[in-house]
Amino acid sequence: RVLAGRPADLAGRRLVISAGGTREAIDPVRFIGNRSSGLQGYALARTAVARGAEVTLVAANVALPDPAGATVVRVESAAELRAAVLEAMEDADAVVMAAAVADFRPAAQSGSKIKKTSADPDPIHLVKNPDILAELGERRREGLKPYPSVIVGFAAETDDVLANGRAKLARKGCDLLVVNQVGDNLAFGTPDNAAVVLAADGEPVEIPRGPKEDLADVVWDLVARRLA
Ligand code: CTP
Ligand code: CA
Repeated sequence: RVLAGRPADLAGRRLVISAGGTREAIDPVRFIGNRSSGLQGYALARTAVARGAEVTLVAANVALPDPAGATVVRVESAAELRAAVLEAMEDADAVVMAAAVADFRPAAQSGSKIKKTSADPDPIHLVKNPDILAELGERRREGLKPYPSVIVGFAAETDDVLANGRAKLARKGCDLLVVNQVGDNLAFGTPDNAAVVLAADGEPVEIPRGPKEDLADVVWDLVARRLA
């Protein structure tokens, strides 16, 4: 895909993008994970670099080549992703949370491999992970520096896409929420995506089914306008 010919409208901007899906360890060999491929986050990173931005890409368990020109920080769990995003955010203009962050993690991790016995296993007790996107919104609301001036979230919804998206945008305190409709072979692991971008301060923008780079460019158009 040709990335040339884009405007340099993000020149001098520092952007943090999270991509992929976190893994929450059960024991040294097993984890709870999700189906995020990281393709959308990587498309965001590539297009942002092509538009002149300085990009830190926080990548959780992604099997993709590093995008040229971006600083890549590899993480595994939600806790690691949170620490990496908060560190990179210190001198960032905008944060885009495209990663699928596990909502829960096992309360305890076994230091050694859990062995099979004749009995059924104990249930895995889960506890909540911190909500990184909500935390960024809260920092900004409270004026707790540093915080990014533009905050973008992603959401995959299966039903009541718009109503759920609106409620989530408000709950998270972000500027933009890119709401994907999951299903119909869209989103996970595919090169194409379709979405509607909800804005805290404006009309929704519909993005028809197309390459994840196209969706990324619409997100950057909206971010660039807010940074200007
Ligand atoms: N997110 C986050 N930290 C979490 C969970 C989610 O930063 N612990 C971010 C995701 O990266 C995404 C956005 O929040 O940008 C929305 O994630 P989503 O899973 O749709 O929202 P939740 O609030 O977890 O709601 P639910 O899963 O119940 O729909
Ligand atoms: Ca979630």
